Parts: sequence; C-alpha cells; structure tokens
Amino acid sequence: MSCCQGKENSGIAKEILQEDQDKINKILSKYEGKKGSLISILQDIQEEYNYLPIETLNYISQETGTKPAKIHGVATFYTQFRLKPVGENLIMLCQGTACHVNGSKNIEEAIYEELKIKDGETTEDNLFTLINVACLGCCSLSPVMMINDETYGNLTPENAKEILKEIKDKQLTKGA
Ligand code: FES
Repeated sequence: MSCCQGKENSGIAKEILQEDQDKINKILSKYEGKKGSLISILQDIQEEYNYLPIETLNYISQETGTKPAKIHGVATFYTQFRLKPVGENLIMLCQGTACHVNGSKNIEEAIYEELKIKDGETTEDNLFTLINVACLGCCSLSPVMMINDETYGNLTPENAKEILKEIKDKQLTKGA
C-alpha cells in the first residue's frame, strides 16, 4: 500500500527510532532467506534489548511480511522470551518439583521480604526482576535460583537474602 511506503509517515516510524531500525535490519539480514528463523531473530532481539519490545515485533512483521499474530504467538509461547523489560539482575527462581519439595516457596517469600517483588515483577529501582521458572537442571542443589548467569544452590531464606543484599551493595558501590 502506498501509504506505508514512506516510513517516516507511518505509525511504526514514530514508535521505532532509526537506530533501532538499523539494529533490527542488521539482525534480519543475518537470517535473510533462511526459513524458520523467527525464533533465532527473536533471540537476537532479546539479547539486544533484554526483552522483546512490542514495537520491534511490529517492525519485524512489517519488514518480513510475517503475520503479527504468528510473531506474537511465538513470543508468548516460549518461556525464554520476555515481553516486558527486566531489571538489571534477572532472578530465575526454580519452582520445579525438587526445588518445590525443598522449600522454593520459602525462598520466594524471602525474596519478597528483601525486594518487595513477586513473580514477574521488577523493583522500582530497576535492579531486580523475579521470575519463577521450571527445573533449572541442577536439582541436586535444590532449592536453586539463577541470577543472570550465576547459579545459587542449597538456598535458605537467610542465605538468599544475603545474596541479594550483596548484589545490591555491589551495585550501590558501583554507582557511587
Ligand atoms: S527442580 Fe529445581 S533445579 Fe530441578
């Protein structure tokens, strides 16, 4: 449609900055002509933004001709994808069977006491996001959480709070 050809006049152009368009175009060109690469594209976008901003999904749809419903379907089906921004530290608290049996709910409570966030929430200072996840694959250490790439096992409410405090302190010293 002619109205969509001048991108600066389209709604999408208003929502997505030129520099973001460039970033996404670079990702898209990596997968050009490769079938079934939607998941890889979304993974790359999430790596770039730490989540999948809705306007980037719309942009991909526009650029690739993939139906928005398909892109949104994939983005919401796989738990690896996040549609909301996350804090600097992503806490993935395991709620798999072994962790559950060994007290992951108590750890969840301890996190709430320390940070005042529940599953899916982010602290006001944007430092932490908590998400509950299924088995992290290290059940012998249960209960387990991962913070970014680091795994913390044999958790108790006390040591979980300590870990969070240490991260907070480090961050504060960094920012000081
Ligand atoms: S159940 Fe938590 S790591 Fe397997």
